[in-house]
Amino acid sequence: MLRPFFYAIALMLPHLGFKQTKHRHRYVSPVTQMMIKWVTVGIMSLQATLSLAAETLKPVTHSDFPTFSEELVMLGRDLFHDPILSGNRNISCASCHHAWLGSADAVALSVGEGGAGLGTRRHGTPASPAEKHVPRNAPAIFNLGASEFTTLFHDGRVMVDDTAPYGISMPKGFELEREVTNLLAAQALLPVTSFEEMAGQHGENDVADALSKGKVHGPEGAWAILTARVEGIPAYRAQFDTQIGADKPLHITDIGNAIGAFLAFEFRADNSPFDAYLRGDTQALTPAQTRGMELFYGKAECSTCHAGRFQTDHDFHAIGIPQIGPGKGHDSSSTAFADHGRAAITGKPEDKYCFRTPSLRNVALTGPYGHSGAYATLEEVLGHHLDPHASLIGFDPAKAPLPALGGYGQVTPQLPEHAEIERIFAAITLDLPPLTEGEQADIIAFLHSLTDSSSVNGRLGAPLGVPSKLRVDTIAD
Ligand code: HEC
Ligand code: HEC
Repeated sequence: MLRPFFYAIALMLPHLGFKQTKHRHRYVSPVTQMMIKWVTVGIMSLQATLSLAAETLKPVTHSDFPTFSEELVMLGRDLFHDPILSGNRNISCASCHHAWLGSADAVALSVGEGGAGLGTRRHGTPASPAEKHVPRNAPAIFNLGASEFTTLFHDGRVMVDDTAPYGISMPKGFELEREVTNLLAAQALLPVTSFEEMAGQHGENDVADALSKGKVHGPEGAWAILTARVEGIPAYRAQFDTQIGADKPLHITDIGNAIGAFLAFEFRADNSPFDAYLRGDTQALTPAQTRGMELFYGKAECSTCHAGRFQTDHDFHAIGIPQIGPGKGHDSSSTAFADHGRAAITGKPEDKYCFRTPSLRNVALTGPYGHSGAYATLEEVLGHHLDPHASLIGFDPAKAPLPALGGYGQVTPQLPEHAEIERIFAAITLDLPPLTEGEQADIIAFLHSLTDSSSVNGRLGAPLGVPSKLRVDTIAD
């Protein structure tokens, strides 16, 4: 009975400003239409703003990473976790770059050779009181295998360089003896030659003795001594047979190549919500993370240095992170703590106190932050960026996240002398626009969206044992 009445109303609806939707019998009121229009315009302009920032950011893909055979990666995994590469056979690469500790060691300045334990529980021992801290913070090593990364270390002392032997510049006296497969392979040859990190002290072992005589290269050099150790272990030699050929003598670069392959595979981290966003999943980020990303790549100017999809320009800047601990001791005029950063490599005054912009992938899990590890939290290091001068001057060294040395050795939270702090202060070039508390919270939320949870404990993780049968660090240490 009522049907004709409804038809009549339906016929009138378009004249009243109602519009028919794709579903023939549904009508949308003018108010709803206007709301839809606003929302659509809003979304479109939001997309336009984001695409300005995100336009240049291509998703990270397989082609960004070199690939290596599974055998080589597994061999590198053993070597990376094996204390055989340290002079006193008591520390491995993983002691400072552990899969359970965000590929680093969770403390401001590492306790190197002679220490015991892992992470914040690492301490000195009576036999070797670990008096010396490693001068800089052990950085996280995520994604360094991606081809975009051509500069390593806080001061860039290992770098792709066509004019250097085998295309990679190394510190003076540590030049490569042969070609290596990637930058990480070259880098891996250096920690083993550092007295504090892995080699130990003169009089303690053959590697440290060679190094203290300045012998790195050649048949009596530190590299050859370490290579002979590895070659002498049948389980290693058998694995290398399949890589280099059974009758070819092992060379230190073969060890580097295996570690380099492992690092590129193990610490690849390109599956974060941010990566999903770059791959086109518009729902991947929370509203706060999206706002934070807009700020990061826009108004907050973070991306002027933390550029691109790995958040680094691979360049060096003076941002005045407080110098805790001895640093590299570059102030030759006194015993004062000092670290001149990039200038110690280039010799250029304008590079003084400049350190490399770190990638921010997995950054929520890789504190302490900065080349000296002065800041324990993201909030603190962001606060420093927003007011670096005040943050440097007001820094309280007692708050630095240094390891407790368990009564052995010396904790060195001291700052450099005042004149040095003034020089660091004067060198600062960082000058960012102010951000509200809400905006800072959004940026922190964005930094959390850079966490790839599938990568945080490494892809393979630590082995239970290694071919040398030496003890592997465990989380219980
Ligand atoms: C005692 C702690 C310690 C040990 C052991 C150690 N490292 Fe490191 N690692 C550091 C510190 C500290 C730095 C930063 C030094 C610098 O930049 O001057 C670093 C830097 C690195 C970097 C460069 C990171 C970047 O962002 O550029 C890589 C890669 C690396 N280490 C790999 C290794 C490998 C491979 C081994 C073993 C052969 C190893 N490390 C052993 C503490 C350690
Ligand atoms: C002028 C260049 C520059 C700008 C702009 C900049 N940073 Fe940095 N940032 C650096 C450098 C250089 C370091 C490392 C300093 C050091 O090690 O002494 C760093 C360190 C960091 C760290 C610590 C990372 C780690 O692993 O130790 C975070 C987090 C960070 N920046 C976030 C930001 C955010 C967020 C912004 C924007 C608000 C920003 N940065 C703007 C250059 C910059």
